[in-house]
Amino acid sequence: MIVAIDGPAGSGKSTTARAVADRLGWLYLDTGAMYRAVGLAFRAQGLPFTDAAARTLLPGLDVRLHPHPDGTRVTLDGHDVTDGIRTAQAADDASQVSKLGPVRQAMVALQRRVADGQDVVVEGRDIGTVVFPGAEVKFFLIADLDTRASRRLAQSGGAQARGSDGGLAAFQTVRSALADRDQRDQSRAIAPLKAAPDAVVLDTTGLTIDQQVEHVLDAVRTASPG
Ligand code: DC
Repeated sequence: MIVAIDGPAGSGKSTTARAVADRLGWLYLDTGAMYRAVGLAFRAQGLPFTDAAARTLLPGLDVRLHPHPDGTRVTLDGHDVTDGIRTAQAADDASQVSKLGPVRQAMVALQRRVADGQDVVVEGRDIGTVVFPGAEVKFFLIADLDTRASRRLAQSGGAQARGSDGGLAAFQTVRSALADRDQRDQSRAIAPLKAAPDAVVLDTTGLTIDQQVEHVLDAVRTASPG
């Protein structure tokens, strides 16, 4: 069975998808991590974000996700980039490379290969619409922008780094980076961020993580044969 969880940054996708996969003992597939690793490779080689550069880079590129008890480890050409892909720059670069047709083609093929023959919880932007349109369970998570920015700031430890303004400037920086990235992800020509027509749209603004997870698990139980 495939559980597809899509949505904008900070909507709760990763936390929910990881917890659901843990509870079910299924594979968790973080497709954003793949785009982030590709973005890192572009930056490391100083390449422009163009189709031509992607065509040069991709054939030799080895992006892998390794399930690990402490969370998925990500390698790029054999080097562990798990931490390196979590910076604000890496998020932005991922969004830039994810607009490119050759990159999307390669990543979608990789995602389908990894999931082949397994029960899997997959999170991303286009999982329910493009990668696995036949997924048995589809969720599209949303949350208001302030909530998403607060979550992102807390994850990056920024909530502790309050200056004399109480962290307002840091909050606004994160908030505006999120808004820009969502705008780019929603407006790109290929596989834009949007809910599949048959996805359950879940607003996580006022929900706890347990509540989000239960919503998805309920849908999995309903969709499970027997
Ligand atoms: O989920 P994330 O923040 O790690 O994703 C980083 C970027 O990768 C996101 O801004 C857009 C892109 N992405 C995508 O285009 N399609 C996916 N399935 C997953 C991520």
